[in-house]
Amino acid sequence: MLKYGVKRFDIINTCRLASTSTSIKNGPGLHHFIGEAQKTRQRKPKIFPLPNETNTYLNPEDFNGNGRTVKFLTYGCQMNVNDMEIVRSVLFQNGYIESSDEKTADIVLLMTCSIRESAEEKIWRKLNWLKSNSKHCTVGVLGCMAERIREGIIEKSKFVDLVAGPDAYRDLPRLLAATRFGQNAMNVQLSFEETYADIQPVRTDVATKSAYVSIMRGCDNMCTYCIVPFTRGKERSRPLESIIEEVKQLSAEGFKQIILLGQNVNSYRDTSQVTLLTSEKSSVAGFKTIYKPKSGGRTFATLLEKISDIDPEIRIRFTSPHPKDFPLPVINLIKERTNICNQLHLPAQSGDNQVLDAMGRGYTRELYLDLVEQIREIIPNVSLTSDFIAGFCGENDEAHQRTLDLIRQVGYFFCFVFPYSMREKTRAHRRLVDDVPEDIKQARSNELAAVFREVALKHNKRLIGTQQLVLVEGISKRSPDYMVGKADCGVKVIIPNVEIRSTVDNSFSKLQAGDYVAAKILSATSQTLAGNSIYRTTLASYHSV
Ligand code: 5AD
Ligand code: SF4
Repeated sequence: MLKYGVKRFDIINTCRLASTSTSIKNGPGLHHFIGEAQKTRQRKPKIFPLPNETNTYLNPEDFNGNGRTVKFLTYGCQMNVNDMEIVRSVLFQNGYIESSDEKTADIVLLMTCSIRESAEEKIWRKLNWLKSNSKHCTVGVLGCMAERIREGIIEKSKFVDLVAGPDAYRDLPRLLAATRFGQNAMNVQLSFEETYADIQPVRTDVATKSAYVSIMRGCDNMCTYCIVPFTRGKERSRPLESIIEEVKQLSAEGFKQIILLGQNVNSYRDTSQVTLLTSEKSSVAGFKTIYKPKSGGRTFATLLEKISDIDPEIRIRFTSPHPKDFPLPVINLIKERTNICNQLHLPAQSGDNQVLDAMGRGYTRELYLDLVEQIREIIPNVSLTSDFIAGFCGENDEAHQRTLDLIRQVGYFFCFVFPYSMREKTRAHRRLVDDVPEDIKQARSNELAAVFREVALKHNKRLIGTQQLVLVEGISKRSPDYMVGKADCGVKVIIPNVEIRSTVDNSFSKLQAGDYVAAKILSATSQTLAGNSIYRTTLASYHSV
């Protein structure tokens, strides 16, 4: 049970360990509890050791890392990046420090993704690599894969010490303490309330002046292919005031871009203040939900408006919304406010009605296209992006052609395309047949990507000769002679790294991350624009001209 002996720990607290480790080594481990649960047909434990049990051998001072070093490895989506920032915050407050080297760190924590089989395979490869390359560390698996596979990770890897699901990060100091006593530790309890609202994320990529801010967690949509509702649990919104406070703080620190995050951002509803109830419905007419439509509380439109009021110099983006939750107030607000980008991620998943129905998306191709038209009427220059799944259960070639046609018809700026990956527990796994062969899934996925690139190239070429307001993110990785940034539409723009005049005070200086620069676009590929800077400016004054 005590995998690496007591050597790692004796630096910290040799005396007390000597008295406690013997009893713990002989005490029950996770396998014992799973075995007992199976014998008595109880549910398997979700938290181990139990918090009250901890008291019998761990004192609160054991929760302190006392300078132990942690290497943080993040896989998957932006939510995972932000979750790791929360984990950093929790551990730094408890005496742990960051290591830059996974071979020498005391602890390696992996923030994991389960959305597709390939995402998990990548993490297993990394775990195997760690097994042979960093023999003396404690290894923890956090996030979606931890929630999905649970004790199976400890059993299969024979190497992982700690497993913590997305709602268990506050418990990490206690779980890590248990591992120092030779115990495996696990907390995969999902919560109805946890939003980590009071935890200030520790951001590492501050140089870009861009920050992620989580506004809600979990998902109630239950699209039939998706594991997220099982790994991240029920949807819950973070109290509005705590989000506003965080954005104000980021504004004071000079951040210039905020990306609001959630599995379903636009179904945001803060019901923490019952006095502020509204009858505003979030769903668009015709779109269906499998759950009772939410009402009451403060909506995404209210939140977006309040965030936009904080700082006219902060650009606001959000991801991922669901097409069903785009009421007019949100679209109008995006049009009205110069600091909310005219870019919308509108995941379609498929262009075929039968496939959309099998996916449980709650809309038809026609409803989706109506929504696109409605959005374009209000915001003609909107840049739309999307997600598509190739080769979902029952998708035939005609259905695939209809998806290709949808991509051409909508004319997206960017699409994420994924071959379908069957996930256990989902409704598709229980009720549908994964009947599209892998090579066809891959071929269709390649074709979807090729068509979106074709369409995106056309869009980007149309921008040649126009002026775009670019928010600079930093020096290009390819050459120090160039800076990279993003236009309002979300496309990457490359500009020369030279001194440039500011319209604010007429001074000349080199561009820096966080600067707004008016740039003339000179050339385009399907993913990048290149241009010349004309002048440095501010977001407010650029739009007041
Ligand atoms: N297989 C392939 N892609 C998936 N996605 C979600 N679940 C699966 C799956 N089982 C994609 C969807 C979603 C994006 C985040 O990942 O397109 O919008
Ligand atoms: Fe998954 Fe659908 Fe929820 Fe997105 S909206 S996280 S695809 S269940």
